[in-house]
Amino acid sequence: MPKITINDFLKKKTEHKKITMLTAYDYPFARIVDEAGIDGILVGDSLGMVVQGLENTLPVTMDEMIYHTKMVARAVQNALIIGDMPFMSYQTGVDDAVRNAGRFLKEAGAAAVKLEGGAEVAEQIKAMSKSDIPVMAHIGLTPQSIHRMGGYKVQGKTEKAAKKLIEEAHIVEDAGAFSLLLEAIPMDLAGKITKELSIPTIGIGAGPYCDGQVLVLHDVIGLFERFVPKFVKQYANLKEEAFKAIKQYREDVENKKFPSKEQSFK
Ligand code: KIV
Repeated sequence: MPKITINDFLKKKTEHKKITMLTAYDYPFARIVDEAGIDGILVGDSLGMVVQGLENTLPVTMDEMIYHTKMVARAVQNALIIGDMPFMSYQTGVDDAVRNAGRFLKEAGAAAVKLEGGAEVAEQIKAMSKSDIPVMAHIGLTPQSIHRMGGYKVQGKTEKAAKKLIEEAHIVEDAGAFSLLLEAIPMDLAGKITKELSIPTIGIGAGPYCDGQVLVLHDVIGLFERFVPKFVKQYANLKEEAFKAIKQYREDVENKKFPSKEQSFK
């Protein structure tokens, strides 16, 4: 199967086929996600929370994102790899944005980047797109704005807030974004935005009317238990499976059941 490109994302929208995305942050899981036929892998700055154990995503650095994206890129044969721009890697200006976004493509093997924000980052999206760096925009709940938003809350619930999000969606499309991630907004609003835009929308907590869906891998497979948002569906409980296996190993060693002759050399 050939590598999935941003054109395939667009094609899926026009053909009314759903786009599938998940996050991944390392080689073994990126391999599984890719082999399962997922269209796009986001190396999300959510790794700060689900891999590094941080309180939020703000401390994640560019070098850490490059490190994780490299691991993912080594594993992936087909999926479109999207590197997530961490806090303060693009908010500080257009030059920083282009330079840091370029690192994802040049050093890490990503084929696109994602950044959070609407009108306030339109110039960055324009400059990155002009430099041939495909950009996924991200509006609604933007976790890097946690201190302004006062927590991880559903956005766009009032008429005024919904109108603003629709405007922002058009602004990022006009700036050159190849797709738009919608996080934690009412499903009808996401449906309206999806209908109005010609670029594909990818939802997380934005209901069924988006062109595609993304979730954080560790939520899907039961490896992150600090909090589980309402929009998550957990498809497996790997924490429980890993716990059982590790406990069994400890007991086998303590009870002299492991290693047996089978695992030993003559
Ligand atoms: O960092 C992340 O994982 C995200 C989610 C919205 C998927 O941005």
